[in-house]
Amino acid sequence: MPILNRPETMERITTSAQAEAFINEQIADIRAQVGDKKVLLALSGGVDSSVVAALLIRAIGRQLTCVHVNHGLLRKGEPEQVIRVFRDEMDANLIYVDAVDRFLDKLAGVSDPETKRKIIGSTFIDVFAEEARKLEGVTFLAQGTIWPDILESEHGIKAHHNAGGLPEDLKFELVEPVRILFKDEVRVVGKTLGLPDNMVYRQPFPGPGLGVRCLGAITRDRLEAVRESDAILREEFANAGLAGKVWQYFTIVPDFRSVGIKDGRRVDEWPVILRAVNTRDAMTATVENVPFELLSRITDRITHEVKGVNRVLFDCTPKPTGTIEWE
Ligand code: XMP
Repeated sequence: MPILNRPETMERITTSAQAEAFINEQIADIRAQVGDKKVLLALSGGVDSSVVAALLIRAIGRQLTCVHVNHGLLRKGEPEQVIRVFRDEMDANLIYVDAVDRFLDKLAGVSDPETKRKIIGSTFIDVFAEEARKLEGVTFLAQGTIWPDILESEHGIKAHHNAGGLPEDLKFELVEPVRILFKDEVRVVGKTLGLPDNMVYRQPFPGPGLGVRCLGAITRDRLEAVRESDAILREEFANAGLAGKVWQYFTIVPDFRSVGIKDGRRVDEWPVILRAVNTRDAMTATVENVPFELLSRITDRITHEVKGVNRVLFDCTPKPTGTIEWE
């Protein structure tokens, strides 16, 4: 049986040598637990599920099936990177599900934030369950549960996000190879497993994805404005050396327009709001002091390169009083 609780004496994993030792232990445990049976994993491309995928691929290769659901709310380039890294480079058994229309059709006209979150969560379960039912002989479900998830669910802070949700006919035995690790340790393990830096050191990204940053009822054109402006912000922060330094930065597109001028003509277009914050635990946050020249450059690029946008605003609000996300 795999270890369920983090031993009190366990040293924090900070070096690749420690990570290598952990990886070898896990590979042995996974092989002992799984034998010649099949394992299923929902691979979002986030740090935790990516590290679990890489570990399982090392341990059991194509006995693992990864399902990557593209719900249309991922950042620019993410689905492509999941396919490249896992299918092309690691030879994973990867099922890519293009569910963009299904999600966006369900979300059409829905403006209440909680309802949006619920639709995204339940549609995800539906799509994943449909894929799982198509497969034969799967015994195990792998999950990227990490130690803080266990602690937080024990203390009633949040429902443990991974475990629940699948319908009764899909009750698998769990495989949770990073369950006893803290987030920083998962990153060291991922790096040691050869995952790319932009996958291992990526900023936190909410499960409902860009859906919480496309305010009000999601439309495809405004969602594209969120995705494109986010990509520009990330590129400019990387060029300015801020990528590994600022905790979280992203863009938001509200559902109202204002007047502006483009090519000498009046245009009614959306603003893009920039958010860049630092925090330890996301309970409180301070605003990054972004140099004005950089803000001007980002503004210039977004207003010229992103369709339907005529203004850029910077959110100067710490948490509290603002939350980090807008929805
Ligand atoms: P807030 O907006 O509450 O965000 O200050 C704190 C941190 O949590 C992330 N966040 C979410 N993560 N599902 C998630 O998985 C969500 O619905 C969600 N909402 C916020 C947010 O990105 C920030 O890092």
